[in-house]
Amino acid sequence: MTDASSTPAVPVTIHRGDYRPPDWQVPDVALDFALAVEATRVAAALSVVRQADAPTPLVLRGDGLTPAAVRVDGEGWNDWRMDGADLIVDLGERTAATVEIDTLIHPASNTQLMGLYASNGMLCTQCEAEGFRRITFHPDRPDVLSRYKVRMEGDKAAFPILLSNGNCIAKGDGAGGNHWALWEDPWPKPSYLFALVAGDLVVNRDSFTTMSGREVELGIWVRDGDLDRTEHAMQALKDSMAWDERVYGREYDLDLFNIVAVSDFNMGAMENKGLNVFNTRYILADPDTATDVDYDGVEGVVAHEYFHNWSGNRVTCRDWFQLSLKEGFTVYRDQCFSADMGSPAVKRIEDVRLLRAAQFPEDAGPLAHPIRPDSFQEISNFYTATIYNKGAEIIHMMATMVGADRFRKGTDLYFERHDGEAATCEDFVRAIEEGAGIDLTQFRLWYSQAGTPRLTLSLAQESGDWALDVTQTVPPTPGQDDKQPMMIPLKLAAFAMDGSGAALPETLVTLTGATQRVPLGAFAARPALSINRGFSAPVIVDFARADGELAWLAANDDDPFARYEALQQLMLDTLVAAVSGKARGSQAVIDAIGQTLAGAATDPAFVAEAVLLPSEAFIGDQMVTVDPGAIRRERLALQAAIGTALESQWRAILAGAAPPATDLSRKAKGGRRLRGVALAYLAATAMDDVPALAFRIFSDADGMTERQAALATLAHGDSDERVAALDIFYQRYRDNPLVLDKWFQVQAWSLRADTVDAVKELAQHPDFTLANPNRVRSLYGALSGNQAAFHQADGAGYRLIADLVIALDPKNPQTSARMIPPLGRWKRFDDARAAMMKAELERILAQPGLSRDVTEQASKSLL
Ligand code: ARG
Ligand code: ZN
Repeated sequence: MTDASSTPAVPVTIHRGDYRPPDWQVPDVALDFALAVEATRVAAALSVVRQADAPTPLVLRGDGLTPAAVRVDGEGWNDWRMDGADLIVDLGERTAATVEIDTLIHPASNTQLMGLYASNGMLCTQCEAEGFRRITFHPDRPDVLSRYKVRMEGDKAAFPILLSNGNCIAKGDGAGGNHWALWEDPWPKPSYLFALVAGDLVVNRDSFTTMSGREVELGIWVRDGDLDRTEHAMQALKDSMAWDERVYGREYDLDLFNIVAVSDFNMGAMENKGLNVFNTRYILADPDTATDVDYDGVEGVVAHEYFHNWSGNRVTCRDWFQLSLKEGFTVYRDQCFSADMGSPAVKRIEDVRLLRAAQFPEDAGPLAHPIRPDSFQEISNFYTATIYNKGAEIIHMMATMVGADRFRKGTDLYFERHDGEAATCEDFVRAIEEGAGIDLTQFRLWYSQAGTPRLTLSLAQESGDWALDVTQTVPPTPGQDDKQPMMIPLKLAAFAMDGSGAALPETLVTLTGATQRVPLGAFAARPALSINRGFSAPVIVDFARADGELAWLAANDDDPFARYEALQQLMLDTLVAAVSGKARGSQAVIDAIGQTLAGAATDPAFVAEAVLLPSEAFIGDQMVTVDPGAIRRERLALQAAIGTALESQWRAILAGAAPPATDLSRKAKGGRRLRGVALAYLAATAMDDVPALAFRIFSDADGMTERQAALATLAHGDSDERVAALDIFYQRYRDNPLVLDKWFQVQAWSLRADTVDAVKELAQHPDFTLANPNRVRSLYGALSGNQAAFHQADGAGYRLIADLVIALDPKNPQTSARMIPPLGRWKRFDDARAAMMKAELERILAQPGLSRDVTEQASKSLL
């Protein structure tokens, strides 16, 4: 049974400019849950206080609910009506009242995973953005903040653990094997931060003493058997709490902080006040089942949700157009935290790689939107790389321009001024302006203009002095044809390539005009220019530089990020030339990689990132028309050339023993990463012994990082070892859903020519299910990230994704809609592919009863 019928496809567009403060506030909410998996009774009592001057009815949002009873101030009430899914209660002249509403909801058939739903027999909630209205009628907008008191009662055997926000203030046994608990959250909060969990859970308990000496009880709740995989998350939580005190002066504000891990979850995690709910994938980790990347994911997401306690909960969003206020800032905060916990240079490289992989294409396509959108149909579609990752870059730029100390003054002012409020992006910018002392008038364009700015650079010489001429253009995006020049902080430096040192030490230039000349100084010869150091601005830089200059920078630049960029640019130039039929040899790339590998012993993590070839998708992004087949061919050819030319180095890296999987130090993680890269380079050469080598690594591996890297390498090929390894992996981990996801994923990532057929077959595998979003993503999400497979010339990849969207939409529109954007990139491909992609979007749109989520994404993708 599915229930998407409760979100009808009414394409109503909501505009930011239409914002009006609420007519009614709700200072107190009391909820009483009679819990059962099939049907849960919810009795809600809302104390409401009129804000509007004149009498106006109380509008309570609902989604799939029917009121079983309505009472006002204790009396049965008839002055109400339904307006679509919403409940309108006429309260006459009243300025305040207590409105009680009873509803009956059905967690077991809630396949959308929004509101109260069942996952493996436990009950849990997801309310952001608009899920609370699937539990009870409520204004359900983030600028309505209430104090919550939650009573829940249910079968003690089925639900031994009963959790909600805040503190448990009473509990006891009820009739018929029931028990109950009463929770109270002292902090007023919007409904999207409400949470409830009931189930059979075990806890990892710990505690944290805050900077003012308060003792906070910490709990990470998981299913029996998973407890020994929660230690890393617990350490990350304690580290995050200490970091937010040290770096932002922010202390935790309750006596209890709980995290619950659930296997069925639409997103990564949720920052509900005092009761975070997580996708198991961002909590559970041990060396046998989680890779180093998984470990870092756990640490980053635990930090992210914890940091929301201030950037999101204590200061929340006035409306959903302000989503980046909390998400962009919180991503920035978790990025800085992870950088502090590990390697700042490597973290920056990873963050930029993700931005380029997920956000730049979004900004260049039909779904482009500013980090503060002007309109939407379904807010779930706006939990995007733009809101999150570009949003974080906007904060990063402000911090770069004012420096750490002044930035802290700005954030102090922001937290102090808006504590307890529902704020706007404008409030944040003003606090930074005043607290840090900077004029951000022009900078505000980053909030309103979509599209990635492009800087075109050229070096000029005037009477012995060198200068940089900069032209900036911001491309047109849907609804925004004309763009104004942005304020862009660009860090640069210049070097004399003859080794006489830094010609111009690092300088921060603030670009403001459409064209601008930046004086550099007097140099004897053309200097090597290091541009956008540390990725100071999220822009595309067009600057023709000779291979020799890039190679010099890759070897000598004093900013590790700039060294990485120079080598990437050299690889990219080589690959783009090859794809366009202008082969120019791979020697420059081979030499630069060879030289970079010399630093492998000191910083293996950085070297592993630096020597990695750009992804097929990123190569495609550099071309007018993407040719997926040629890109794969040329990238593999270059990889093979590098593998052959540097064979002894790659073999030397693999010859030593892998660091023990239990060693999670920076160096050990870097070492494992580099070994994975070395194996991939050797595999590209098709040398005879590679399958056996990969299989030996797979078999000898004492942890998942090595095991998965070897399996992924084997999965690309056609060896007996491939079949054996996939089978061993499956048999060993078939009962561990998160590891089984990897088994699906490596096959969908495969560079083999038959990957689309393999995915089609895997979708019929008994362990595949549309009910679990992680499983869906591990198969289909991996396929759409596999450029040459997804864009297979006969259109089979497109068809497969469209079939999935259609099949999944009635069950889970949110996760279904997330699969659409790759189909919307049709303008970047040849006519034949574009026609097939559009046809699939049209086929999706022709389905009757389509959700609002999918309707919005598919119809916008056609424009
Ligand atoms: N606020 C959460 C986070 O980023 C994301 C929750 C989004 N949920 C959703 N159903 N759209 O930490
Ligand atoms: Zn977040």
